[in-house]
Amino acid sequence: MATRRIIHNLALVGFMGSGKSTVGRLVAQDLGFQFVDTDALIEEKAGIPITEIFATEGEQAFRQLERETILELGKEEKQVIATGGGAIMHPENLTSLKSHALVVCLWANAESIYERTKHQTHRPLLQGENPLGTIQTMLAEREPVYKQADVIVNTELRPQREVITQVRHQFEESCGGTAGRAES
Ligand code: S3P
Repeated sequence: MATRRIIHNLALVGFMGSGKSTVGRLVAQDLGFQFVDTDALIEEKAGIPITEIFATEGEQAFRQLERETILELGKEEKQVIATGGGAIMHPENLTSLKSHALVVCLWANAESIYERTKHQTHRPLLQGENPLGTIQTMLAEREPVYKQADVIVNTELRPQREVITQVRHQFEESCGGTAGRAES
């Protein structure tokens, strides 16, 4: 039997370039919720962009800020939260999100992610010589963790508007009830 959970918020997880911020903003609009982006909160807290946090203080410092930021999100309700692609690799972050939010993973395969991100420069982890190879390796490492989300929505099988409808539908189904495991 699934554990009963009180769901006040919706959290989007998934690899870089999976559409968490775009979809999150639009779902928040539909639901009349506040949109929260953990990367933006971290930048606000640090006073510098993420690329600079990685360059000057290193990834561990970024991950520490990310954990602190995610822990604070449980205090508020009616939020759609877009997380950074690596956030739930720390188990504490997934546990914390699941304590107040339905956790929905937006899924895309490595090639699509590469196509969506190849001209962008704000992700330090994808700035190396072989971004497609990096994406393939990281996605394979992260996949088992992404699969621990409550719901997985494949963003490749449908237009964005349908992804938004699907995410919203899953959230409304789970609200105040039992968040089970679903794939769509
Ligand atoms: C990261 C993803 C980024 C950002 C940071 C690290 C990751 O967020 O948190 O660059 O480890 O996957 P997006 O998924 O919003 O690009």
